Amino acid sequence: MRVLRSRLGGLAFGGDYNPEQWDAATRAEDLRLMADAKVNMVNLGVFAWARVEPARDAYDFTFFDEVMDGLAAHGVTADLATMTASPPPWLGHEHPEILPVTADGTVLSPGGRQHFCPSSPVYRDRAARLVEALATHYRDHPALGLWHIGNEYGIHVAECFCDVSAADFRRWLHERYAGDIDALNAAWSTDFWSQRYAAFDQVLPPRAAPTYPNPSQQLDFKRFSSEALRACFEVERDVLRRVTPDVPVTTNFLAGHKTVDVYDWAPHMDAVAFDSYPDPHEKHAHIGAALSYDALRGAVDGAPWLLTEQAPSAVNWRSRNGGKAPGQMRLWSWQAVAHGADAVMYFQWRQSRGGAEKFHSGMVPHGGADTRVHREVRALGRELAAVPELAGTHTRNEVAVLFDWNSWWALELDSHPSEGVRCIEQVLDYYGALFEAGVGIDVVHPSADLSGYKLVVLPGLYLLSEEHAGRVVDFVAAGGHLVVSFFTGIVDEHDRVHLGGYPAPLGKALGLHVEEFWPTAEGESVALRAADGEPLAGDGSLWREDVVLAGARPELLFAGPDWEGRPAATVHTFGGGTARYVATRPHPADLGALVARAVAESGAAPVLPGLPAGVEAALRRGDGYDVLVLLNHGDTAHDVDLPEPRADLLAADRPEVRRVALEPRGVAVLGSPHLGGPRPDDAAPAARD
Ligand code: GLA
Repeated sequence: MRVLRSRLGGLAFGGDYNPEQWDAATRAEDLRLMADAKVNMVNLGVFAWARVEPARDAYDFTFFDEVMDGLAAHGVTADLATMTASPPPWLGHEHPEILPVTADGTVLSPGGRQHFCPSSPVYRDRAARLVEALATHYRDHPALGLWHIGNEYGIHVAECFCDVSAADFRRWLHERYAGDIDALNAAWSTDFWSQRYAAFDQVLPPRAAPTYPNPSQQLDFKRFSSEALRACFEVERDVLRRVTPDVPVTTNFLAGHKTVDVYDWAPHMDAVAFDSYPDPHEKHAHIGAALSYDALRGAVDGAPWLLTEQAPSAVNWRSRNGGKAPGQMRLWSWQAVAHGADAVMYFQWRQSRGGAEKFHSGMVPHGGADTRVHREVRALGRELAAVPELAGTHTRNEVAVLFDWNSWWALELDSHPSEGVRCIEQVLDYYGALFEAGVGIDVVHPSADLSGYKLVVLPGLYLLSEEHAGRVVDFVAAGGHLVVSFFTGIVDEHDRVHLGGYPAPLGKALGLHVEEFWPTAEGESVALRAADGEPLAGDGSLWREDVVLAGARPELLFAGPDWEGRPAATVHTFGGGTARYVATRPHPADLGALVARAVAESGAAPVLPGLPAGVEAALRRGDGYDVLVLLNHGDTAHDVDLPEPRADLLAADRPEVRRVALEPRGVAVLGSPHLGGPRPDDAAPAARD
């Protein structure tokens, strides 16, 4: 995001700004408070379609002209929304055919938001007309810095099953299978249950059916639905690229959301943006957040991304909405920056007075600016403005976790060995173990270049094509280290089993095959023992399987009746590398030890050796310098010794330090020594106080 960096002079800081909810006096106060908090970018007008086009073609930008002028006068850049995320009442009224339909035929009414069928030509056309008018009107406005297309595509309506969508699905399938219905029949295994199609026009979306709809059809429908939403994005993007070719475009994804394939979308965007809502009630929420940030960064090859939304404190949409404790919002904001964010933004600037989100926290709460939340926001804004060098820096690590939305979709389809096997849970088991081992982690698509990695981990990567599996095997043969968990590499891209013993395409690297899955009953534990006789921390759970060794050596064994002595985790030397396989879900401490062994053998180094438990370290690299961020997620204060002196970028005059004191929820931002001393004026964002 070079354009943004040169415009802002550093990291972006701000939030969703919905001035249409407020009177003129409040809007004037907004600008004063923004300047005071060093807000330099806002996501403007995300839900303002009804305001700027109150009736068909009756565009009226007067209100936003004043807002845009005010922002420009206060040095705030607009990440201007295309305003298409919630169609106005008149559109649903005039064209009820744009409303989405669920698998069981229910039509979703207006009254919430995102009530449009992604394939609707009427919706796409009205959205494109609005964007044309908006872009033409604001193309030369000094506040315009970035376009925010739509909003969190697919969070409420990811799939539509109406007749328009059905026709679009058939068009998509015709293209995917090059007009060959027998190619579709083969991919979907339609000889099962007499589903063989004679022509594309017989195919339907996987609507509610008497029993399990065809899994390959379900998988293709998820792909199609993600692409149908992307087509909505592209319709708007193409208008913007024509009218405002110099203004980059983005849209915001929701962290940990299953419906939209971020790896498929990212190449079609100028910048990727992310909304992240870790749950303050969850003890290890920061690990899940780190995973989602690393997965997003994997979509842009280690380049920066934008944190477009987080909560200043509580959200309103969980069953119990915990607030962020003092310092937690700062800590989690810096964690996003540590993992590559070039923007720290919130939903939303001012907490709404009415509407469904009135109990969602805001940067300016109902209580006003003299509140703990606003004071913490203001302090963070000032702090982020002091480290402009972070913007534009990159991240590259030695350990990769392979992740694929297609596999997530396929893994969680129905009629599987165990409903207990959930994608993100499986990934988090391994990601969490790597995180605790202190290594930096890239989360990347299976098509990524693996050659620069020392260790690659495939956690529950159920769907893996022959081609991608071949790359993993080559990686091990060339000296790489690999860890694979159960129910990985089971099916191809059409959800058809790789024959020859699971996981067939990885078998020669792993030195084994699996004959049979034996998932546990709910709550049942799995007795295990170490092959070397060392004591284990506890039982495993969830899964057992019948592993047949073909060169691999067991590290863990199943114990107890029927299973005594059978392999539960193995290691195999293959070519110049080593491949481990884990056939159950071990106790977290035992999995941690196994993963730590793989890390050590691979030679992947921790970001900072010898860190106390609960302290995270992450590194971002710039041109000729780097920035190390230390984050204390624990409840205990720690002194951390640095292997070499670094400039303390958050302290006035940036002194050189060798030891850092980290309070609970404490943060340190430490640059290469030459970044020390007073910050050069020309690197600083424009002063606005
Ligand atoms: C999402 C949306 C916002 C808002 C927040 C509330 O991220 O993009 O419009 O609804 O959730 O947490």
